[in-house]
Order: sequence, then C-alpha cells, then structure tokens
Amino acid sequence: MTQPPTWLTAGYPHIWLPYTQMQTAAMPEAVVSAEGCRIKLADGRELIDGTASWWSMCHGYQHPHIVEAIQKQAGELSHVMFGGLAHQPAYNLATRLCQTVGMGLERVFFAESGSVAVEVALKMALQYWRNLGEPKRNKFICFKHGYHGDTVGAMSVSASGEFNRAYDNLTTRNYTLDIPSDEYSFAEFADTIAAIKGTVAALIIEPLVQAAGGFKLHSPDILSEIRRVCREHDILFIADEIATGFARTGSMFACHEAAIEPDILCLGKALSGGHMPLAATLTNAKVFNAFLGTEYEKALMHGPTFMAHPIACAAANASLDLFEREPRMAQAEALEQKLWDGLKPYRTKQGVVDIRVKGAIGVIEMNTDAENNQRLRAEFIAQGVWLRPFGNCLYLMPPLTISDTELEKIFTAIGAVLK
Ligand SMILES: Cc1ncc(COP(=O)(O)O)c(C=O)c1O
Repeated sequence: MTQPPTWLTAGYPHIWLPYTQMQTAAMPEAVVSAEGCRIKLADGRELIDGTASWWSMCHGYQHPHIVEAIQKQAGELSHVMFGGLAHQPAYNLATRLCQTVGMGLERVFFAESGSVAVEVALKMALQYWRNLGEPKRNKFICFKHGYHGDTVGAMSVSASGEFNRAYDNLTTRNYTLDIPSDEYSFAEFADTIAAIKGTVAALIIEPLVQAAGGFKLHSPDILSEIRRVCREHDILFIADEIATGFARTGSMFACHEAAIEPDILCLGKALSGGHMPLAATLTNAKVFNAFLGTEYEKALMHGPTFMAHPIACAAANASLDLFEREPRMAQAEALEQKLWDGLKPYRTKQGVVDIRVKGAIGVIEMNTDAENNQRLRAEFIAQGVWLRPFGNCLYLMPPLTISDTELEKIFTAIGAVLK
C-alpha cells in the first residue's frame, strides 16, 4: 500500500475534523480529484460514491457545465458584498428559483449553508409574529428524528441526540412531537396543536424523508394533513428541503408530491449542484409583507458576509440549466426501482431491521450500533465504494447520474461487507 501524501500526514496534527473522535478515528482518505460518480484517491484507487458528498452532488462531480459557469464567473466577479450592491447571478437565480419552486413562494434570502438557511427561516417566523404584535408566539413545533443543522437555532428544533446533547445550555427546547402515522395518532397530534397554538410561531419539518435523524419516511397524505392543521391554527409551516430538494425524493421538491404550499422553504446542498456552498430561504408574500413598514426594526436582521456569493449563484444557475436540459427527473424516478431491486434481498438477512426506499434514497436499517461504522466504512473502501453508514443506517444517496454498472458495484460491495 502506498504511503499517504505528506500534506495529509504533516497537516493531520493541525486539522479538526467534523463529527470525529480525533483520538481513535482512522486517517481520512486523501482525494486528488473526482469526476462523475467517482472519487480518485492519492494512491491511485477510485471509489464509487454512494453518498453524493453529503447528498449534494446531484449531477456528479466536476460537471463540465457547472465548472465552466464557475470559471467564467470567477473571471468576471469572484465576490462582492450583497449589502447595498447587487449582481446579476443572484437576481437571476432568485427569479429562476421562484419559478422552479412555485408553491406561492416569491422571495429568496440567500445564505452559505443549510444550517444558516434554517436559522433565517426561524428568525423570519419569530419576527413575523413580533411584527404583527404577537411576540408570545415564539415556540416551534418540531419532530422526533428531525435534523435541521448544527447551529444553535437549528439544533433547538432538531431532535435531541448525539448531534446536540453537549450543547443543551445553548439550545432552547421546543415542542418535539411524533410525526403521526395513522388516523388515531393524527387526532392526538391535532389536539396537541390546538392546545399549544397560541405559543407557536411555526412548525418545521423535513417533508417526506427525515434524513440525518434516521432516514424515516412519512406519506404525502400525512404531510398534507399536518399542513392543513397548521393552516387551521395560523401556524407558519416551514419545509426544510435541504436534503429532499432537487429531485432527491423523486419529485423536484417533496412538497410538490404532497401538493402543499409551505410558508417558508429552506434549500441547500444540491442547490448549487453540490459544487459551491449555497443555501436559500424562500417565503411567500404573507410572511414578506409583515416585514414592510417605515420602522427599520421591522426589517429582517440577517446578512452573512458571503451571502449570495456570485460564483455559488453562477453554479446554481448552471445546475438549474441541467435540471431543465438533462433527464435528471427521469433518472431520480428510475433510481427508486433500482434501489429497491438492489436492497430488497437484504430484507430477510439477519441483523437487518428494515429496508426503506424513496426516490433516490435507499436505506438499510440495521441492528447494530454506531461503533461498527468506522469498520464498515473501511470495508467499503476496500471494495472500491464510498459509503458512510451512520447511526444504525446504511444509506445510499448517490449522484442522480450514477450508471447501472456503478450502482451494481455498490450493491456487490454491500453484499460483500454485510455478509
Ligand atoms: C434537512 C437538513 N437540514 C439542514 C441541514 C444542515 O445543512 P448544512 O450541513 O449545509 O448546514 C442538513 C444537513 O444534513 C439537513 O439534512
């Protein structure tokens, strides 16, 4: 085996890695390039990516159309502050996003990460009620298994667990409910909402698929009933489509499948085709108009230094081109059957609790604990595949462009590792 490159070994004592026990974790793999669905390592090996780099790389790595847009934009205007100055990539993107998203959402606030897009959504909801003279509506309804990011507000509306336990002192607890699964639990849910409505600013949900909190699915019918109850009690409805957006669930947006219109929508990850950090919070006229007036205090108080970064916006515009001109939706839809076919044989395997598939998301829930994951990752790498099981789930969320041969290689690797 070739030695890791010196930049990796010499830099390792200085780097602090995400979600990593630095004392026991294996050295990460050194990547030199990536193309399509393949990640090339410094020692010449190639890994087929089953994760789309934390679910962002929907068109595959180094898509030539996106790379060209990035290079062109970098040559013209690499960055300029968004306060008091404007640039075309952001304005064009806002227009195109509203057209693509629909659902009555007509204003876009840009940020640089999904967590910050969620913070902005929460701030919008709180200030909406404050501006309307109802500051006591300041709590959120969120869900067990929900995950909305790692910043303080986002942690406060995520389920309590390993991602946020250590930071209890920073977070505020909100109303954490079960997503109802049937008529009976729905009635209980509706009663709870009716009882607490006067204190609630908004409900936040990952529509159809709760991702990082355990890859749990719920039906479009349940989602639309939750939406209906929010409307009934005038509770703002925030859809966090940072993971589900851009065809991941088989529809362009999960809310489209349930035919619902959120008041606020969070996007990130695949927004730039995964090529640049970019996120967005969209809202409707009802919310936006509550911020208008002559008092400065009524304005939304948020403005990240790198918001609406021109190169990131150029990448996102190029990504939308690809959704328009390449068969991305058909690829996402087709992946659902392929993932079923590939994962179904594990349903009866010892140690497998459940197999779940939705659009381009496939999950094997296992009867193991997270301690095994480091070993599993290493075994997948040995098989030439990049999969990153976490918690008790082994999930596949590959680039939507993955070929049948590449997918087959991932299934073969799963077979070898889980035997
Ligand atoms: C549903 C959801 N919301 C928010 C986030 C946070 O996004 P980011 O990691 O870009 O801050 C994630 C990330 O996994 C997510 O899945």
